[in-house]
Amino acid sequence: MLKLGVNIDHVATLRQARKSVYPDPFAAALLCEKAGADGITAHLREDRRHIQDSDMEKLASSVNRLNMEMAVTEEMIAIACRLKPANCCLVPEKRQELTTEGGLDVVGSFDKISDAVRRLSHSGITVSIFIDPDKEQLEAAAKSGAPFVELHTGSFANAFLRSVQEKEEELNRLIEAAVYAHNTLKLEVNAGHGIDYVNIDDVLRIPHLHELNIGHSIISRSIYTGIEQATREMLVKMAAYKF
Ligand code: PXP
Repeated sequence: MLKLGVNIDHVATLRQARKSVYPDPFAAALLCEKAGADGITAHLREDRRHIQDSDMEKLASSVNRLNMEMAVTEEMIAIACRLKPANCCLVPEKRQELTTEGGLDVVGSFDKISDAVRRLSHSGITVSIFIDPDKEQLEAAAKSGAPFVELHTGSFANAFLRSVQEKEEELNRLIEAAVYAHNTLKLEVNAGHGIDYVNIDDVLRIPHLHELNIGHSIISRSIYTGIEQATREMLVKMAAYKF
């Protein structure tokens, strides 16, 4: 069964907009779990623009399965090794970006990334690497020793809004990457970024998926429906997955 990790960063974005104490990402995480989410994802960014250290501490000690998104820095590796979330997803980070813009360049930073994978794995954390659907990046990710990759669906989500032809091209890149990662490289394959209640029907055409990490669309819908209902509606969509 295809799993859902709900990314709760944007609950914290709303709180930090006023430096308030609400809404609380931890309370939101518990409601997502109650609605059937398989995991909770949170990104502790270097600039702490949304999730704070105290959020991560609370999530790590209380949710069923925490996936900590993090940049490959000494600070983040130390925090992860101390908190020991079940999963870590290594992502690139640029200070000025609105959100994570591209996949990690595993080819270009191979030594640094494989060292991080080794240290996190040694702490008992299952590591995933967020990459674009690119053969060389997939090969480098497999060589680094990470058991999982998360395919970046952002280009597909953007193409979806432009034209059917561009959307199909991006989707085919994701399908080919998932097949290669699973069949040849023996990697577990997750996917995420920009997935919503409409484009997910196409995302479900990608074979061999283990988990989707979805944040912005679920948190946005929760304004109208509440977060439990928004999570459930995504799970209903995902139940159509056939691979
Ligand atoms: N996966 C990764 C690695 C991400 O960086 C993000 C965004 O934080 C997501 C999934 C979720 O993307 P979205 O909020 O667009 O659903």
